[in-house]
Amino acid sequence: MSKTTGKTGGKKVVLSGIQPSGKPHLGNYLGAIKNHIAMQDTYDCRIFIADLHALTTVRDATKLHEMSREVAIDYLALGLDPDKAVFFRQSDVAEHCELAWIFSCITPFGLLERAHAYKDATAKGMKEPTAGLFTYPVLMAADILLYQPDLVPVGKDQKQHIEIARDIAVKFNSTFKKTFKLPDPYIPEETAYIIGTDGEHKMSKSYGNVIEFFAEEKDIKKQVMGIKTDSTPVEDPKDPDTSAIFKLYSHFAQEKEIKELRTKFEAGGFGYGDAKKVLLEKLLDYFAPFRKKRFELLENLSYVDDVLKEGAKRAQGLARETMEKVRKNIGL
Ligand code: ADP
Ligand code: TRP
Repeated sequence: MSKTTGKTGGKKVVLSGIQPSGKPHLGNYLGAIKNHIAMQDTYDCRIFIADLHALTTVRDATKLHEMSREVAIDYLALGLDPDKAVFFRQSDVAEHCELAWIFSCITPFGLLERAHAYKDATAKGMKEPTAGLFTYPVLMAADILLYQPDLVPVGKDQKQHIEIARDIAVKFNSTFKKTFKLPDPYIPEETAYIIGTDGEHKMSKSYGNVIEFFAEEKDIKKQVMGIKTDSTPVEDPKDPDTSAIFKLYSHFAQEKEIKELRTKFEAGGFGYGDAKKVLLEKLLDYFAPFRKKRFELLENLSYVDDVLKEGAKRAQGLARETMEKVRKNIGL
């Protein structure tokens, strides 16, 4: 891909975004971030920090700004290469909002009423749901379709939003003129749904069942040692496939190590505490180089800001191209 224009040289285009919402956890890493970074070698990737989406909940200007920069640091530490992927902040590209308005004029109300993020928030008794929360999927459709991607890698919980983006693209193309490509979700089965430390729900900040790999070591330890286990006696054989410890370990260990842990579980006599220690060690080991890189980046914030500035320029060029077609096709 050209570094200056961000234009694809015939490679498939990948687009994804992540909300700045605090420290990343293993669900975010395995379900989203790791795929985004792995795809930069084979696809033309456009990855952005969804700070406008975060505005649906965050109200503090300093916090929002810092959280966005934290996400940038996290991605760069985990291996995102800004020479390969176009990496930017959503609010730096005004076309996201412009296209969202146009889409909101053709999106049926009923389609958004069925969207689970809004339904869940109101079901949980959110006092004054905003219009922004309701139209969240419209902005997300604009995020996606502006960049004409082939694939959108996300966790399973985002699949409905991509289906809505496709519905909006179909509606636009048939109402006006064929303008948008229909993107496909990219959701690898093995990492679509990472289990949380309660062993019950998907790992999520909203369930408080997360392991935050960039937290302080003592906090990571607390989170790993806090994984909920059943109360079978230590000497009893256990089914590793029902254990959150074993499942999480399997994402980071080699084939041989996974087999060894499986055998220990199945033989019995191996306590959950021991298994947690094995998992903790594996996680600290796996994330050590990324943690080191993160500390280096924290000392070099002007580099991080420059990356985002450069990414914004490239993304603006791409977005402008699509918007010119959109305006022409709808008669603006
Ligand atoms: P959270 O649920 O903790 O608020 P987000 O909604 O911010 O996480 O998710 C950011 C990205 O990480 C999304 O693409 C989402 O699909 C993915 N993701 C989050 N939790 C998981 C999980 N437990 N398993 C797989 N993917 C996940
Ligand atoms: N809604 C997504 C999340 O919470 C973030 C997001 C915003 C996104 N726009 C997107 C993801 C476009 C993929 C494509 O994780």
